Amino acid sequence: MYQFQFSIADFMSTYWHQAPTVIRQGFIDFEDPIDPEEVAGLAMEADIDSRMVTHANGQWQVAHGPFEDFSDFPDTHAQLIVQAANHWHPGARELASAFSTLPQWLFDDLMVCYSQPHGGVGPHIDQYDVFIVQGQGRRRWRVGPKGQYQEANLETGLKQITGFDAIIDVVLEPGDILYIPPGFPHEGDTLAPSLSYSIGYRSPKARELLSSYADQVIVDEAGDHHFHWPAMQAQPDAPAALDPQHLAQMDGMMMALMHDETRKKRWIGEFLSQARHELDLLSPDPQWQPDSLKAAMQDGLCLEKLSGLRAFYHPDQPEMIFMLGESFDLPAGCESLTPALCNQRFIDWETLGDAADNSLFWPMLTLWVNRGYWYPLEEAPE
Ligand code: SIN
Ligand code: CO
Repeated sequence: MYQFQFSIADFMSTYWHQAPTVIRQGFIDFEDPIDPEEVAGLAMEADIDSRMVTHANGQWQVAHGPFEDFSDFPDTHAQLIVQAANHWHPGARELASAFSTLPQWLFDDLMVCYSQPHGGVGPHIDQYDVFIVQGQGRRRWRVGPKGQYQEANLETGLKQITGFDAIIDVVLEPGDILYIPPGFPHEGDTLAPSLSYSIGYRSPKARELLSSYADQVIVDEAGDHHFHWPAMQAQPDAPAALDPQHLAQMDGMMMALMHDETRKKRWIGEFLSQARHELDLLSPDPQWQPDSLKAAMQDGLCLEKLSGLRAFYHPDQPEMIFMLGESFDLPAGCESLTPALCNQRFIDWETLGDAADNSLFWPMLTLWVNRGYWYPLEEAPE
C-alpha cells in the first residue's frame, strides 16, 4: 500500500492545473513497485504499448514494442517506456491506487520508464497533468514556464521543443514527486540508472466533447427537424441579409439538443468511461451462470475489479453505470449498490446488500464477470 506523506487536498487547491511543484519524499517508506527486468518483460508483450527512445550523438530515435530482446539496449542515452503498466502489473496498480482519490474520469494511466544515464525524451510539452514519481536512481528535471515554443524533431512524435529556460531545476531522489500541469515544458535527464513512474491525467478538449456529442445526436436520430418560421416576412430591401431573429431560432434549435439532459448524461458517462489503453480482459472459462455466481459469493467468493476498468456514475442517477463506453441500467432496487461497484476495488456478499435478493441483478453481474470486468479472488483481501 502506498500512502502519501503530504496533503493531497492542500496540493490540489494550490497546484492542480496551476503550477508545477516538487514534493520531496511524497510517500511513507517508498519502494519501487516493479524492477527493471519486469519492465523489460512487459515491453515484450504484444498487447502492451511500449517504446524505446534513444539519442546517441544527438540523433533522436523512437522504436515501438513489442521487443524481442534487449541485447542492443544502449548503456547510455536510452529509455524504455511502458504505457498503462498499472493495467498489467499488480505493483504498478498499487502505486497508481495512491492517486485514486482524484476524479478517476480524468485518469489516463501509469507509465513506467526505465532510463539509462542521460536517458530521457528530451525537452517537450504534454497536454497532461502528470505526477512523476522517482523510483530507484536519480534524475535531473527542468521545468519551464508556459508559453510559445519552437517545435523540434516532429517526425519522432515526442512533442519536442528546441529548449526553454527553467523555473524548476531539481534532482529527484527515490520517493520524490514532480507535478507538472499541461502546457509547461519539461525535460528529464538521467544521472543514475532509474525507474520513474508518470501518473497521467488527460482533460477532454471542448471540441472533442462537442464533436462526440454531435455524433451521439446523429446516432440517436435526434434533432431531425427543419428550421420552422411561420412568421417569415419578405425582405425587399435586403433579401441577402441574415436576419438575427432567424439566427436566434437556429441557435435555439441547437441549444435544445445541447440541453437535453437525459441524452447528455448518458452520452457523457459513455464518453468518459471509454477505455484509453488496452486492458487485461480475460473471460473466465467456463463462463459463470447467475446461480453459480450467486452461490459462490454467498459462500464467501470476493470479486476484484479489473485494473483500469473505467466505471462511473452520476450521483443523482445511480440507476445507471457506465463502463468502457457502455451504459448499463441497473434493475430497480439495486441503485444503492452503484457507488460501491464504481468506487471500490472489491465486492463481496456483504457489499451486495439487498441487490443479492434481486433475481434481475445476478444476470447483470454475471455478464460483467464473464466479460472480465470483475474477477474472482482466490483469497479475500484483508
Ligand atoms: C520521462 O520520464 O522522461 C518522460 C516522462 C514525461 O516527460 O512525461
Ligand atoms: Co512529459
